[in-house]
Amino acid sequence: MKFFLDTADLAQIEEAASWGAVAGVTTNPTLYARIGGTVSDFPKHIARICACIDGPVSAEAVGSTRDEIIREGRELAAIAPNVVVKIPTMIEGLAATRVLANEGIRVNMTLCFSVPQALLAARSGARYVSPFVGRFDDIAEDGIEQLSSIVDALDNYVFAEGGPNGEEIEVIAASIRSAQHVTQAALIGADIATVPFDVLKKCVEHPLTARGLAAFAKDWEKVSQA
Ligand code: G3P
Repeated sequence: MKFFLDTADLAQIEEAASWGAVAGVTTNPTLYARIGGTVSDFPKHIARICACIDGPVSAEAVGSTRDEIIREGRELAAIAPNVVVKIPTMIEGLAATRVLANEGIRVNMTLCFSVPQALLAARSGARYVSPFVGRFDDIAEDGIEQLSSIVDALDNYVFAEGGPNGEEIEVIAASIRSAQHVTQAALIGADIATVPFDVLKKCVEHPLTARGLAAFAKDWEKVSQA
């Protein structure tokens, strides 16, 4: 499973990229609002992210009609070769995805909460589909179980719809809230987990690692004084 970073915060992206284990970035309007972004600076901000990460960077189209989404998608894709256009799972989004995929533009179909939605995303030519895990947990349902069903259903078929390069659709486990979610997503076989920076840090940490480090430091102190 690959790790993407789920943030629009450039400092977090630069730091996580320096760890060498982050393969991409996902953003959304909420994450962009969180860093105080403006509409006029959005293309430049996406360009800055694309320059500091060697991998796909999802930037979301906010239009509600297919024509608006297609126009935005083309503009976003023109920012950098590693832009992936993020489009919500809805009828207009599927229609826009079909057009953009035919033009070789990669789409990440987001706000996916069911197997039929994921299958339709794949058939419309999406390169990625993003089932949201944590938001199911928010309404007292099992987000990991939903993710598992989506991974299994997509694994049953070969999708040739994903544009000229014939790449298979990949599942991005999104709305990840904990290291436990990361573990479960990996065991299920999700291709990618997109994680907030604080969750990524928690994935590195373990109390036994911390305890072991403290013991090594203490013993090295003894050796140094001998
Ligand atoms: O990429 C979008 C998704 O990860 C959002 O997560 O925490 O707002 O449900 P969250």
